[in-house]
Amino acid sequence: MRGYFAIGSERISKPMNLGALMRTANAFGASFVFSINAEHRLRAAYQADTSKTAGQVPYYQWDNVDEMQLPRGCQMVGVELTDDAVMLPTFRHPPQAAYILGPEKGDLSPDIIAKCDHVVKIPTKFCINVSLAGALVMYDRHLSMGGYATRPIMPGGTTGDGKRTDYVPGRDRT
Ligand SMILES: C[S@@+](CC[C@H](N)C(=O)[O-])C[C@H]1O[C@@H](n2cnc3c(N)ncnc32)[C@H](O)[C@@H]1O
Repeated sequence: MRGYFAIGSERISKPMNLGALMRTANAFGASFVFSINAEHRLRAAYQADTSKTAGQVPYYQWDNVDEMQLPRGCQMVGVELTDDAVMLPTFRHPPQAAYILGPEKGDLSPDIIAKCDHVVKIPTKFCINVSLAGALVMYDRHLSMGGYATRPIMPGGTTGDGKRTDYVPGRDRT
């Protein structure tokens, strides 16, 4: 697949949500995971326990948005249910992307939104769990950039790895 991605959350407070986000990020091949201004107890827990939870995919813990350092050329994509956000099913994902989600209670801060190159929303009637929202964004990236065959008209699908027959992994890398 083309490029790389990272995913993180601002002011996250529940270890289970960060754990689920990390596990899903690892499963979808994230290059790193991050948090900005995570709740204090959660920060302490993750500092003390890097081997179990953050041993599979690098985890960066930044205190505020100014501390955050993304690789050059990496675009920041806010994930938030706002009026102005782009509908995820219509969004073309940047090849190099860092997705940022909001806290369990509240929204992405204006400081973060101001730093985002794009803001996307998942077409749901109301806000869903933060780790679930992250999973849907990663799945959408995978679906749209993974080189899969188009769906047939009749029920059913492509067996094997589901790729287009002319698909060569990495050929579209820039
Ligand atoms: C549980 S929601 C935040 C709570 C919500 N703002 C509220 O008070 O009703 C946690 C985060 O998940 C993400 N999220 C949840 N549902 C979303 C959606 N439909 N579209 C985009 N982001 C969503 C956003 O990043 C949001 O800040």
